[in-house]
Amino acid sequence: MSEGTPLNVVILAAGQGTRMRSAKPKVLHEVAGLPMVRHVLKAAEQLEPSRIAVVVGPDMPQIAEAVAPWPVIVQQQRLGTADAVRTAAPLLKDMGEKEDLLVLYGDGPLITAETLHVLQEQKRSSGAELVWLGFRPPDPTGYGRLLLAEDGTLEAIVEEKDASDEQRRVALCWAGYLLGDARGMLELLEQVDNDNAKGEYYLTDLVRLGRAIGRMSRVSECGVDEVTGVNSRSELAQAEKLMQERLRRRAMEQGVTLVDPDTVWLSHDTELATDVVVHPNVVFGPGVRVAEGVEILSFSHLEGARIAEGARIGPYARLRPGSEIGEKARVGNFVEIKATRLGAGAKANHLSYLGDATVGADANIGAGTITCNYDGYDKHHSDIGAGAFIGSNTALVAPVRIGANAIVGAGSTITGDVPDDALGLARAEQTVRPDAAARFRAQRKNSKETS
Ligand code: UD1
Ligand code: CA
Repeated sequence: MSEGTPLNVVILAAGQGTRMRSAKPKVLHEVAGLPMVRHVLKAAEQLEPSRIAVVVGPDMPQIAEAVAPWPVIVQQQRLGTADAVRTAAPLLKDMGEKEDLLVLYGDGPLITAETLHVLQEQKRSSGAELVWLGFRPPDPTGYGRLLLAEDGTLEAIVEEKDASDEQRRVALCWAGYLLGDARGMLELLEQVDNDNAKGEYYLTDLVRLGRAIGRMSRVSECGVDEVTGVNSRSELAQAEKLMQERLRRRAMEQGVTLVDPDTVWLSHDTELATDVVVHPNVVFGPGVRVAEGVEILSFSHLEGARIAEGARIGPYARLRPGSEIGEKARVGNFVEIKATRLGAGAKANHLSYLGDATVGADANIGAGTITCNYDGYDKHHSDIGAGAFIGSNTALVAPVRIGANAIVGAGSTITGDVPDDALGLARAEQTVRPDAAARFRAQRKNSKETS
């Protein structure tokens, strides 16, 4: 646990997200390949909290699965943000005397641990009981306005629907994130009523209720991008765009060359080492780790792959889960690799499928090589030894083993093992009939003339 006050986190995710028009709960929609609520958890986890609880609506078992091992708690009726936080109280009952409570929203995937640290710092240094995260949206419609007192403390938050015209002109809005003394907040939550325009229990009432008994609120301001919530598919796309920009910037700061950054799509967990060069139009699905000096050429699609130093991938390569590409290996155009280890210096340069295979160091996989790994029921393994040479247009019918330094003749369909240093050849023997082509043409010409 980090130094300072122990922390509890409640993430609100009970909203159905009607505007998404989706069968799945809003917070499970993905940004950079990770459900939004997991992004929020990731940021929260970096604060090393003692507890995190996620408040969900009824019938959202998928969220419980996605946030495990953190618990979910069901808010039976959507009575407002104060009610939602109150719902989580049972999970906090055994906390200590002096602990903090942080409220986050499950549909805000862009929040960073740095900003949450600033909230903590602001609370510590100002001595305020409650710190509210403020921002200035280009269009404040719909947000709660933060009304500051002369001394800079927060006087009240008024919701759009309850605000006067003058209050609506306030640019500073509440982003929905709040850090406060946990016990104090739970006490105040008991006093919140629903006597307002929406008939909801407003979390924002804690400002007024706290102030009335001398508990001060302050505002910590952050940039718009971090707290933009997602309510529709186009806002989801906007969040994705911002997240991609963030991931690309981070990669470049760590010494990765993105030749045309806007065309590279990264996953939340993509790991690119220094001096990796990524050419335009490359997609990184989840679980890709790339070592130093690797070059990835255009139109490659990678997912669940590990690539060792100095390898060269693409253009037009497809690496599927379980691909392990060795040092200085080559994977060229229209090569698909799945659950296969390609040894150091091995080459599969053109038009191949390697699935459930092991390829030894420096082996050469000719154009059009196919590992026939699936018989309609089970997957089988192909083992290709170090230094082996597989001729073009070869089908390796698995399970099969090609020995070290063996050669397989082009066009072979290999169904049995080929020992080390042997030549395996499995194709019809060639016949040559001298002058047969000329005779054939002469025949055709004659028959045309006589008809
Ligand atoms: C809320 C704030 C507003 C702030 C805005 C920021 C209140 C009263 N208003 O307004 O000041 O500017 O967020 O986005 O708090 N939720 C539940 N259970 C509920 C109600 C809400 O879990 O009963 C969750 C929703 O899933 C959502 C979040 O709380 O993630 C915010 O709820 P929403 O109804 O969207 O609040 P706003 O009206 O936008
Ligand atoms: Ca909202």
